[in-house]
Amino acid sequence: MAERIGGSSNSIGLLSWKSLIALVSLALTVFMLSLSLLLNTGGRYQFIDQNLLPHLKHYTPNSPVINPNPPLIDHEPEATLKVFMYDLPSEFHFELLDWKPDGHTNWPDIRLKVPEYPGGLNAQHSVAYWLTLDLLASEFDNAGGLNAIRVHNSSEADVIFVPFFSSICFNRFSRLNPHQNTNKNKELQKKLVKYLTGQPEWQRSGGIDHVIVAHHPNSLLDARMQLWPAMFILSDFGRYPPTIANINKDVIAPYKHIIKSYVNDSSGFDSRPMLLFFQGAIYRKDGGFVRQEIFYLLQKEKDVHFAFGSVQKQGIPSATKGMQSSKFCLNIAGDTPSSNRLFDAIVSHCVPVIISDDIELPFEDVLDYSEFCVFIRTSDALKDKFLINVIRGISRDEWTKKWEKLKEVEHFFEYQYPSKKSDAVQMIWQSVAKKVPVIKRKLNAGRRFSRFGKPASKLGFPLPRNFMS
Ligand SMILES: *[C@@H]1O[C@H](CO)[C@@H](O)[C@H](O)[C@H]1NC(C)=O
Ligand SMILES: *[C@@H]1O[C@H](CO)[C@@H](O)[C@H](O)[C@H]1NC(C)=O
Repeated sequence: MAERIGGSSNSIGLLSWKSLIALVSLALTVFMLSLSLLLNTGGRYQFIDQNLLPHLKHYTPNSPVINPNPPLIDHEPEATLKVFMYDLPSEFHFELLDWKPDGHTNWPDIRLKVPEYPGGLNAQHSVAYWLTLDLLASEFDNAGGLNAIRVHNSSEADVIFVPFFSSICFNRFSRLNPHQNTNKNKELQKKLVKYLTGQPEWQRSGGIDHVIVAHHPNSLLDARMQLWPAMFILSDFGRYPPTIANINKDVIAPYKHIIKSYVNDSSGFDSRPMLLFFQGAIYRKDGGFVRQEIFYLLQKEKDVHFAFGSVQKQGIPSATKGMQSSKFCLNIAGDTPSSNRLFDAIVSHCVPVIISDDIELPFEDVLDYSEFCVFIRTSDALKDKFLINVIRGISRDEWTKKWEKLKEVEHFFEYQYPSKKSDAVQMIWQSVAKKVPVIKRKLNAGRRFSRFGKPASKLGFPLPRNFMS
């Protein structure tokens, strides 16, 4: 039995030896063939779950050439943000635009008529208005509300929106009454703090999941000291102590441009006669000396144009003409690090030259501004000939690339109703949405010791060191 088995296994072994070699080489050939096929398709390795690998989209095994023009925008999947909006009395929002409530509701029926925002320089800070319109529209029209929808149950919301038009309130009602040392702007802020801190939504979170717009640097000047746990939507952090507002907690939104977009811009490097354009006040308070110094450094250059005074004083037509016929537009920090000038330059496709060390730029997590702007440190800009040499050193090709990018990105800075995909309104909601996990983490951490019955209004959020009230 054993012998037979041994014998037969022996003969099988002898037989298979040759066929095994043949089989293995066949298998190897097939394997090599399929591998080379797989590689040559430029396709992806089927046995790897693409989704589990970080950055695989930047790694294509069969293309040795790295894309010299990576996409400017790194689009992430968009989720819909659920927003609960307080039913604030209309004196906090549309009444500030001279809209009159009809007694039934605090809100205009925007299907019939959209109340207008005052024009001129007021419009540059109209962010709260566009966001509010978008939330109102999300209820009846899916043209709006692409990235955010209004929900009426605050427990189901990601964030709580406070529809206070703080900037227009500052613009219109901040003149102090000399006898009372108060004004409507101060009164409304006081009322707002009282209203908010009385709401169950504020009390359960300490305000951490609230979104408040204060785009004008002087808006919400009093209430910010009480409402700082909330997420602010701001133009920059220039007038905020870092504990009250910072990039971790808050969102930077673009100014609404004052100059009209350059539609069908077929200009080019050679058809824009002016090299460099600046419009603004020359002598300003804080950062003013930089403007003054740069003016002295550039005043002898023939193709550099300095226009004095604000856009409004100078006249929008002349600013429009200036920016549309210049290759570069200068942005120098004034009494705040940011201004509408940058956004006017962008929509004029005038390559911005930014001299403002502390500027915060909107949507910088998805936008690489160095692709369409030129940044120069203030200390360098003040060196003799430095600025003008950098600008003159930028070739026609490099300028044209930046000009093309400007046309590609300008829609990110467009406020409009109804809002459109990837415009300023939608981008702001996306920025807010990205903060939601941080908010959730803070809220959960704040609940660690809730069994010991901390009153909701005194959750363990540390007061900023410079908190004075
Ligand atoms: C609001 O949402 C919460 C959580 O989903 C739910 O428990 C509650 O019943 C809702 N309230 C109303 C009034 O629908
Ligand atoms: C821009 O060009 C398009 C297509 O050629 C045209 O329909 C439109 O009227 C132009 N707009 C302006 C403002 O010139």
